[in-house]
Amino acid sequence: MSRTAVVTGAAQGVGLATATLLAQRGYQVWLADIQDLDTQVARLEAMGLHVRGIRGDVSSEAFAIQLTAQVQAECGAADVLVNNAGISLIERAEDTTAAQWQRVMDINLRGPFLLCRHLGAQMLARARGSIINVASVAGLAGVSHRSAYNASKHGLIGLTRTLAAEWGGRGVRVNAVCPGWIKTEMDAVDQASGQYTDRDIVDRVPLARFASAADVAAAIAFLADGDHSGFINGVSLPVDGGWTADASWESLRVGTRVR
Ligand SMILES: NC(=O)c1ccc[n+]([C@@H]2O[C@H](COP(=O)([O-])OP(=O)(O)OC[C@H]3O[C@@H](n4cnc5c(N)ncnc54)[C@H](O)[C@@H]3O)[C@@H](O)[C@H]2O)c1
Repeated sequence: MSRTAVVTGAAQGVGLATATLLAQRGYQVWLADIQDLDTQVARLEAMGLHVRGIRGDVSSEAFAIQLTAQVQAECGAADVLVNNAGISLIERAEDTTAAQWQRVMDINLRGPFLLCRHLGAQMLARARGSIINVASVAGLAGVSHRSAYNASKHGLIGLTRTLAAEWGGRGVRVNAVCPGWIKTEMDAVDQASGQYTDRDIVDRVPLARFASAADVAAAIAFLADGDHSGFINGVSLPVDGGWTADASWESLRVGTRVR
């Protein structure tokens, strides 16, 4: 039986890697993004994969309703929802405007809630589904100059735990992944602000590298599939090379490296 997955923020980065992996594993995948998706959809179709593209803003409830109705009309219901769309904001807390704060919350937290609400209701009606929210290590600990972003990701982990508690007994699992820094367009834009370098990140990570989009996609695919993760519910899984486990000081961490 074909399974259906919805992946938001799927035009690039983690979202595109996840949509591609799930499609390769046999899911019919709906790619959703605020950007045009024609090129990505054409490329995946040329690989023989079953995908659909839908353009819209995840922070809009009208879009959540439209997406849910379209999935229902064509597939019955989604088996998997990956709330991946998100934006970054690097700004000192005292300079973060109310409008900046609100935009980050709208996309990173309200959007996932709305899609959980509408696509999740569809899953609850069938008593079957798996939702994966893409949070961050910034949802597990503080990182300077990211008050809005970090609060949104902490909130997303809170939403994940709450829905896991509320919906687990009704057949819908809800989990999160918490990546460390990933080499995507988001990182390129953030680094262009001059606030950090590749070396800052690599030296902070026990595994001594950035995450790749494929690392994160593999963790999401694991949490998506009940055959592999059927008793896992409400976790926020770090995909961070050991970042959040490591309280070493830098010279100790770097000094013990073999390469
Ligand atoms: N890159 C990192 O270092 C990093 C680390 C931890 C967590 N994350 C999280 O991973 C997720 C994916 O990040 P990425 O690095 O692939 O970023 P990215 O910027 O490369 O991709 C994000 C995608 O989301 C889409 N998007 C943005 N706003 C949207 C909206 N309102 N509606 C629909 N789509 C929208 C963008 O068009 C883009 O395709 C995000 O939630 C991000 O916070 C990223």
